Amino acid sequence: MVRKLIAGNWKMNGLRASLAEAAAVAEGLTQQHDAPDCLICPPATLVAAMAEQAAGTALKVGGQTCHSEASGAHTGDISAAMLADAGASHVIVGHSERRSDHDESDATVAAQAQAALAAGLVPIICIGETLKQREAGRTIAVIDAQLAGSLPDGLAGHGFVIAYEPVWAIGTGATPTSDQIAEVHAHIRGVLSARFEASGANAPILYGGSMKPGNAAEILRIPNVDGGLIGGASLKAPDFLSIYEAAGAQD
Ligand code: PGA
Repeated sequence: MVRKLIAGNWKMNGLRASLAEAAAVAEGLTQQHDAPDCLICPPATLVAAMAEQAAGTALKVGGQTCHSEASGAHTGDISAAMLADAGASHVIVGHSERRSDHDESDATVAAQAQAALAAGLVPIICIGETLKQREAGRTIAVIDAQLAGSLPDGLAGHGFVIAYEPVWAIGTGATPTSDQIAEVHAHIRGVLSARFEASGANAPILYGGSMKPGNAAEILRIPNVDGGLIGGASLKAPDFLSIYEAAGAQD
């Protein structure tokens, strides 16, 4: 059984006042044990306060990236152990904005995912093709290369999450067709199961890229879509909760 996960990625948005949105999300979550997991990844400055606020609720809190090393001379960076210490349970690694803004390679992402595991965090590893790659018919080849390069062998036996986020769908309002999403997710599931056996078969595969209340139900119904990684629509509690409810309604 793959446990569903609805994850919000606030990116570089959110001041202390935004904690009210997270509180409203926490309040709107059902406590049923088979309900989807719900996670918000705020900017690093808010992780500790949000985790404190979410204690005793079903809301989980995560980081948006972490360094591959546990500590050291890396000005401005944050380690997985620090996120865990602040109350995070998950961390996103390899988001396409990190890959492009900070030149993060597949090897860097794999090392970050390994560091997350070492700190007891669940890594959410992001992959996805650009529009140019899709138009060149290279989507599956790109996904294969990212899976091979960004996933450390150490994931075997651990909980982890994959987010398929076509770069051209992020923040654009454009989404792939259901068939396109189904094709990539089924392919990812096959690769994960073959390489990581039970932990690969049970890893949630999230879709990300312009998911919103209006299209969530349709996307979450696609086979092998086990939840979503939501940017813009996670910033307002009612929108995010509506996506969470769409995930719960699929069972
Ligand atoms: P979006 O972002 O929902 O705003 O498209 C998704 C993401 O980048 O994780």
